[in-house]
Amino acid sequence: MCGIIGYIGKSSPIDVLIEGLKNLEYRGYDSAGIAVKNKEEVQKVKSVGKIANLEEKINNTKLIDSNLGIAHTRWATHGSPTEINAHPHTVGNVTIVHNGIIENAEELRKKLEKENIKFNSETDTEVIAVLINKYYKDNELEAIKKALKELKGSYALGILFSGSDKLYTTRKDSPLIVGIGKNENFIASDIAAIINYTNKYILLEEGEIGEITKDKVVIYKDNKIIKKDILETDISADAKDKCGYDHYMLKEIMEEPIVLEKTFKPYLKDLSLLPNLTQYEEIHIVACGSAMYAGLIGSSLLEEFANIRVYVEVASEYRYKNIVYNKKTLVILISQSGETADTIAAMRMAKDAGIDTLAIVNVKTSTIARESDKQVFIEAGPEIAVATTKAYILQAGILSLLAYKTAKDKNLIKEDIIKEVKKLPRLLKEVLDRREEYLEIAKSIYKKDNIFFIGRKIDYSICMEGSLKLKEVSYIHSEAYQAGELKHGTISLINDGYPVFAIITDDKVKDKTISNVEEVISRGADVIIISNEKIANYKKQVIVPKINSFMQPLLVVPTLQLIAYEVAKLRNCDIDKPKNLAKSVTVE
Ligand code: AGP
Repeated sequence: MCGIIGYIGKSSPIDVLIEGLKNLEYRGYDSAGIAVKNKEEVQKVKSVGKIANLEEKINNTKLIDSNLGIAHTRWATHGSPTEINAHPHTVGNVTIVHNGIIENAEELRKKLEKENIKFNSETDTEVIAVLINKYYKDNELEAIKKALKELKGSYALGILFSGSDKLYTTRKDSPLIVGIGKNENFIASDIAAIINYTNKYILLEEGEIGEITKDKVVIYKDNKIIKKDILETDISADAKDKCGYDHYMLKEIMEEPIVLEKTFKPYLKDLSLLPNLTQYEEIHIVACGSAMYAGLIGSSLLEEFANIRVYVEVASEYRYKNIVYNKKTLVILISQSGETADTIAAMRMAKDAGIDTLAIVNVKTSTIARESDKQVFIEAGPEIAVATTKAYILQAGILSLLAYKTAKDKNLIKEDIIKEVKKLPRLLKEVLDRREEYLEIAKSIYKKDNIFFIGRKIDYSICMEGSLKLKEVSYIHSEAYQAGELKHGTISLINDGYPVFAIITDDKVKDKTISNVEEVISRGADVIIISNEKIANYKKQVIVPKINSFMQPLLVVPTLQLIAYEVAKLRNCDIDKPKNLAKSVTVE
């Protein structure tokens, strides 16, 4: 998703803007640009492609003296990734950068064109700039407010006015923070972008407008100046450091034992700190991508051991469904960023219906963290690689603990797994250290065009995440399939040498899955078994330590994460920033 950075302060904005854009690269983009301003003029430099292209253009440009600027990485939604469509956009006296989608942009554009207003770009952002400029006489706040009234959709804006030496900002649905420095202030899509300059920030809320100088931040809401708390992030600057790893993805996988221990620690001491779910008759787990696949792990365990009906739903579908809620429903939202637009919408839909919401979220200041009724935070720390790994493990881990607690609360199980769970970080580290094994498997499959994952019950849930991880970082087509479903169609795709990962950890269906393995082998598949015990007669196997059913997936998925990583590396992919992907999908 697009990234915004702005600076006003004692020095030139360029270094902050470029460094900020680099720190926002992980959000995904296909063009970038900066605008710097002084009393006389606004100067823009924009480019398509990587930030390195923008840097080169800037280095070949004589920049004006300035202490105020805004910058942007654009992930194209309206209009192709061209220099004209890249932000910032200047219309008359107004220059802006925008993250979000204006849903009535076309309607507004047509109306404004009837007023003989010409547009240069294909973007919805230019419509915002035209509106603010149209209303701008000599009062910046009034111009912004009048324009916002006509917009439908999401926006986070950085705004410069020719007649002002201040930086303006506002947001709706798209995240934005105001960084507080010494004789300098910032705006950014997230605090990580400016972590090298300050760890202090103000969280801009919906409908608030920020008017910022180097010494002062004034926040307006409904024409009144409001007081805002200055927060401090616990993200350290070294979070941006790869700590010697080749990629953030690998670093973050290797962090899993540490962050798992940190996340579990309070609950292993006192399980009652986790929410009580016994009063609910059904649970909807709503999320996107890997977060939804973590939800599948949770739903398997909640249904199997806590006797509660769980529906796992893709947020982009759920938000448009006509849900007839049973009042005793709990909606669990899972989100690393806490800013995924579809998941936010699903949460708001449940809240509007008077349904309890519980968020399993990593970013404590995010929209989902702030608006949900209850939260269980994962302690993943900043996750920079677009492909989630440690956050997924913690999402699945918290759901597994929740399932275990609920089963205990309902007196449905006697087993005490806490002692064994305390061993999990060490067992996980041992699994992660077996990288040579995963590299060998990666070498045998990285040139393939189609790779399948099969499993039954919770093993199928693992397949879904294993397949997505491989797809998003290596660009190899892959499908996860319920092992019992193959013969209903997909098996027609299996040809000689097609790699098929078979996940076999659930004892109750182990033999069934082995029969499915035989089915695909007889059609030429190259089967790789990932299991928690040796399965006779199969050469390619990864055996992870056998542990209780609640925690077993947490030892299996990391093997698939590392295999996906090694395959992507062998294919020279852009592992931390896969093409077309964004870390946080803050638009529909
Ligand atoms: C995971 O590797 C993907 N980057 C993506 O599926 C991600 O899990 C999804 O977009 C949800 O993001 P969230 O957890 O921040 O809501």
